[in-house]
Amino acid sequence: MARSFLKETDFTRDEAAGVFELAKRYKSIRQAGPLDVICGEPWGLLFFKKSTRTRLSFEAGVYELGGHPLILNASDLQLSRGETVEDTAKIMGRFLKGIVIRAYEHSVVEDFAKYSGRTVINALTDFLHPCQSYTDIFTMMEYFGKGNPTLDAIKGRKFVFFGDTACNMGYSLALAGCMFGLNVTLCGPEGFEPKADLDALFEEAGIEKTYKFTSDPVAAAKDADVLYTDVWVSMGKEDEKAERIKLMSPYQVNENLFSVAKKDAIFMHCLPAHAGEEVSEGVLRSPRSIVFDEAENRLHVQKAIISTLVRSSE
Ligand code: CP
Ligand code: NVA
Repeated sequence: MARSFLKETDFTRDEAAGVFELAKRYKSIRQAGPLDVICGEPWGLLFFKKSTRTRLSFEAGVYELGGHPLILNASDLQLSRGETVEDTAKIMGRFLKGIVIRAYEHSVVEDFAKYSGRTVINALTDFLHPCQSYTDIFTMMEYFGKGNPTLDAIKGRKFVFFGDTACNMGYSLALAGCMFGLNVTLCGPEGFEPKADLDALFEEAGIEKTYKFTSDPVAAAKDADVLYTDVWVSMGKEDEKAERIKLMSPYQVNENLFSVAKKDAIFMHCLPAHAGEEVSEGVLRSPRSIVFDEAENRLHVQKAIISTLVRSSE
């Protein structure tokens, strides 16, 4: 049976450790040229939402594994004229060997996995962004391991996510952070706490829910190793922009928050960033910001995810 990656817990911790090991190897051998992991296979990359990093990293990654990436915008397909997700998934399954999807509702990636019979990878839904959270874990492993990425290097580190803690990145980092041993705090306005749908993922996978929520940004930033944020207005939330900016402005990651964090604390962001909103221009452009290494690692980690799924399917 084809295996899919729709949420962080679709790999066991051991399998995930293997993904990170493989990502390290792929990063080190990239210059050697394309591999033959999915040699000649057509893979569809289907987007219902905009993307820069995800689209580029999967397009390059499928190519570098020997496959052929086909970029599909949902608005160009009969889907946009009323053909169902079920029928589209069945059709795509007849032509493609794997499908990467960015969608609004999480049920869309689940339905594609159910009806296409192919490996499906979640490239972001309103609920979760697991390719990004795995990449972020790998990037921290690499940074704190001083170039030699290990899970031990991040164990117990204080990781704080500021802003819209109920968005896909807040959820994914709470789940991945607890799964891989970080000391996770989510910090945002009251009312944006994670809901029961996140707790259900912890229960289902038997992972201890160790993250904390606070609405006090200075207390959250105290002695932190990593300060992380994401946009305040996620794709699909544009109608709430004015209200969100008002509510979230106390949670901007700036020099003030870094002044109470550990001396060598780092800044991370999945990007795209809106400097002056969720992060100050100074922090985003400072030497403590590792956002571009983080973005590059999408490629290496996703190649490792594809390889691991393909090799363990059947
Ligand atoms: N971080 C991320 O997923 O970026 P894109 O929206 O550009 O793909
Ligand atoms: N929370 C953001 C992540 C973008 C990569 C969004 O969904 O728009």
